[in-house]
Amino acid sequence: MSKPKILVARAIFPEVLAKLSQHFEVSSNQADELWSPAQLIAQLQGKVGAFTTGGERIDAALLVACPDLKICANMAVGYNNFDVDAMTAAGVLATNAPDVLTETTADFGFALLMATARRMAESEHFLRAGKWTKWGFDMFAGSDIHGSTLGILGMGRIGQGIAKRGAHGFGMNVIYHNRSQLDAATEAECKARLVSKEELLKTADHLVLVLPYSAQSHHAIGAAELALMKPTATLINIARGGIVDDAALVHALRNKTIAAAGLDVFEGEPKLNPDLLTVPNVVLTPHIASATIPTRKAMAHLAADNLIGYLTQNKALTPLNPAVVAQRPSL
Ligand code: GLV
Repeated sequence: MSKPKILVARAIFPEVLAKLSQHFEVSSNQADELWSPAQLIAQLQGKVGAFTTGGERIDAALLVACPDLKICANMAVGYNNFDVDAMTAAGVLATNAPDVLTETTADFGFALLMATARRMAESEHFLRAGKWTKWGFDMFAGSDIHGSTLGILGMGRIGQGIAKRGAHGFGMNVIYHNRSQLDAATEAECKARLVSKEELLKTADHLVLVLPYSAQSHHAIGAAELALMKPTATLINIARGGIVDDAALVHALRNKTIAAAGLDVFEGEPKLNPDLLTVPNVVLTPHIASATIPTRKAMAHLAADNLIGYLTQNKALTPLNPAVVAQRPSL
């Protein structure tokens, strides 16, 4: 019997391709070409599964053009590249890769916070440029982490990981704003207190964004929100581009209405607002918060296991639209 056909849309660990090949006829993209939507549709013809990595848009137009598709497995916890409603309507299962990246991403969020508040990138550029000729009493003076107020917007698993690092490791006073309040035990574990968005913006010394991107969270931090923040505050975005209005942020950084920002994600990435490159008080990293080899492997294996589980046994590990599994006739 011939194996079902799947597409792996970007380059991936050879061990994951080998695992998928035990179950499927795999078309892969180890050359790591970036396909246009039309090229992706062409590549998906005859495929029942797609291994995606967060950059491939799966929407109603693609689904109509790819009638054989049954599952798209994202190797990312975020899934704003999926139109989940359209996928559900088309009977296509969507899966993401939660949990396995939580601690690694929280580590990175905290590292970016520290690098930003303590001006590590800016001072390293200064040193590399040969400008360090003498000690200065306020040279690259930043803001304290320990004992300060850590604000978290979006208190899911990663937000909670950052809260715990701040509260337990650095004695920070943690406040958060979220769609719903955490249960009392989780709040106690994170030593975190729910506040309004306005109080969060006004009170935080360091504000970390960890909320999912959606039409509702688009520009959740724009000019009005930045204006509420302390002039000494730092802003960290490890969530998604588009949550921050990058043009408004450049303005705030230039005018020092906030002290500094650390950004791992950008509107329209991998392109970014060129003005961001001209402001010194911002630390910029290329969307690497989950990038350690063990974590990226765990994410890739989880996406592969979703494809294998669903296409061979009708079982999905981390479904985003589980109704599709329930409605599918058993194999
Ligand atoms: C990374 O941004 C992810 O969503 O996993």
